[in-house]
Amino acid sequence: MLAHLRSNPQTSEKAIQYFDKITKLVYNHGPLGLFRPFKWLWFTARGWIQPTPREPISLAHMDVWAHKSTALACQTFMLAMRAEGYDSCPMEGFDSKRVKLLLGLPRRAGITMAISIGKRAEGGIYNERFRFPQKDFIHEH
Ligand SMILES: Cc1cc2nc3c(=O)[nH]c(=O)nc-3n(C[C@H](O)[C@H](O)[C@H](O)COP(=O)(O)O)c2cc1C
Repeated sequence: MLAHLRSNPQTSEKAIQYFDKITKLVYNHGPLGLFRPFKWLWFTARGWIQPTPREPISLAHMDVWAHKSTALACQTFMLAMRAEGYDSCPMEGFDSKRVKLLLGLPRRAGITMAISIGKRAEGGIYNERFRFPQKDFIHEH
């Protein structure tokens, strides 16, 4: 990211600072996670005075962060596939150990989802599509 941003003379100093300083501060937990208690103290103390991002601190937070970002990329991928005339199906419930072996991923890798892609088939779905009421999901204040 930094190399790409720096290669463009029009990149603002703010953008470079974000990837050079802020992300390193926010996503770096130090060797063996030693910075974590200090980060918690800092976030908590600062949070008393002003709005402060509270996460990520723990490994679980980082896991959520990674899966969240990846899931957005998955959605973009599925929308792009639809635009090209293909259908997709995001899936879980697969043998993650075997998938990692198949793709040559390290054991500690986490898989967000598997996505099958194909041409829509007549009667290819196992149930009619349905949507729950929008008001159950979107709240305005
Ligand atoms: C991360 C994720 C995993 C899913 N895993 C499965 C699955 O293993 N098997 C399945 O039948 N549907 C699974 N679903 C649900 C379907 O893929 C699909 O989202 C659902 O049928 C709604 O389709 P629609 O948006 O076209 O209505 C999963 C959905 C998501 C987002």
